[in-house]
Amino acid sequence: MKTMKVAVTGAGGQVSYAMLARLASGEVFGPETKVILHLLEIPKKPDWTPPNPTARQPLDIAEGNAMELLDCGFPTLLDVVVTDDANKAFNGVNWALLVGAAPRGPGMERKDLLGLNGKIFVGQGKALAKNAASDVRILIVGNPCNTNCLVAYSNGREIAADRWHAMTRLDHNRAVSALAVKAGAKNEDVTNVTIWGNHSNTQYPDFTNAKIKGKPATEVITDRAWLEGTYVPQCQNRGAAIIKARGLSSAMSAANGAIDHVKTFVSGTPSGDWTSAAVVSTGEYGVPKGLVFGYPVTTDGKGNYTVVEGVKLDAFGQAAFQKTLNELLEEKDAVKDLLPG
Ligand code: NAD
Ligand code: LMR
Repeated sequence: MKTMKVAVTGAGGQVSYAMLARLASGEVFGPETKVILHLLEIPKKPDWTPPNPTARQPLDIAEGNAMELLDCGFPTLLDVVVTDDANKAFNGVNWALLVGAAPRGPGMERKDLLGLNGKIFVGQGKALAKNAASDVRILIVGNPCNTNCLVAYSNGREIAADRWHAMTRLDHNRAVSALAVKAGAKNEDVTNVTIWGNHSNTQYPDFTNAKIKGKPATEVITDRAWLEGTYVPQCQNRGAAIIKARGLSSAMSAANGAIDHVKTFVSGTPSGDWTSAAVVSTGEYGVPKGLVFGYPVTTDGKGNYTVVEGVKLDAFGQAAFQKTLNELLEEKDAVKDLLPG
């Protein structure tokens, strides 16, 4: 019997609530694999005053979520551990989904969260290196996820750099869906989309290499002004649009992005297609080594990826690529105190 231990941080938050049952159900790791979930939340504050009568501390919410997971009766779920101790949460885990971090509110950019969230990933990087299983894979969801991932892996270097990923899969799914809607096609008809660079409003959703039913997307959608002037900004600003509509940041689609990311790593990318993930650069496409940069990647279904080389960008794409690269360099500089020398 195969067993996967999976840690989820921020387990009392809204993204985790939309993700936990799917992790436990067999959807991700298959019906033959048992799952043990480790839920991490911040310690309870003894002097906490509820802002309203139904408010609960995050650790209590995580306990409630664990009760619900047990009540689902999944044949694949072996156990749920709830803790406020990162060492316990990451003990022996094969996957760690680092969601726990503050979300942005209206009018904020994700990088405005660096001061608040960046330091979380110093301790969690170290705790992962000390406790995780030797085959661990780590996905950072908490924003700003590329640079949080940079902080985590820089503090957990005992774990190989290619095990650390940051999530651009939500952006990828948004970019696929928006092309499909415009072309009157199905999502499954859209392939070879890439989110280059940062999970931020500088990301470049590359329509120039995308295909719709195997044809270049630019031959199916010939309105280049729409692609450059509407499609790209819509993808770049979709997170903010969701916050404006819901008053809260994305949760269902974010959880789905994380689930899709893990599924693609454990099941592989379809032949001829690729997915988007932010990974630790080894210099591909001229990105400085060590930066966590969104690339097109293929996966082998055993947890490993390869950055797709040789994808060509036109002048519009090259300018967009440089812009998102510059932003990631600025973010790296902003967290230099969190990166061990
Ligand atoms: P939320 O506020 O509902 O939940 C966050 C939870 O994290 C809270 O329960 C909080 O107590 C917990 N937390 C904070 N610090 C922690 C720590 N050190 N250890 C463990 N838990 C901790 O927020 P949410 O809507 O679930 O979003 C979580 C994060 O995911 C945010 O940073 C958000 O911006 C990000 N996000 C990223 C993407 C993406 O595409 N990369 C998409 C959606 C959301
Ligand atoms: C998203 O893209 O929906 C998330 O990163 C949340 C946000 O702050 O936009």
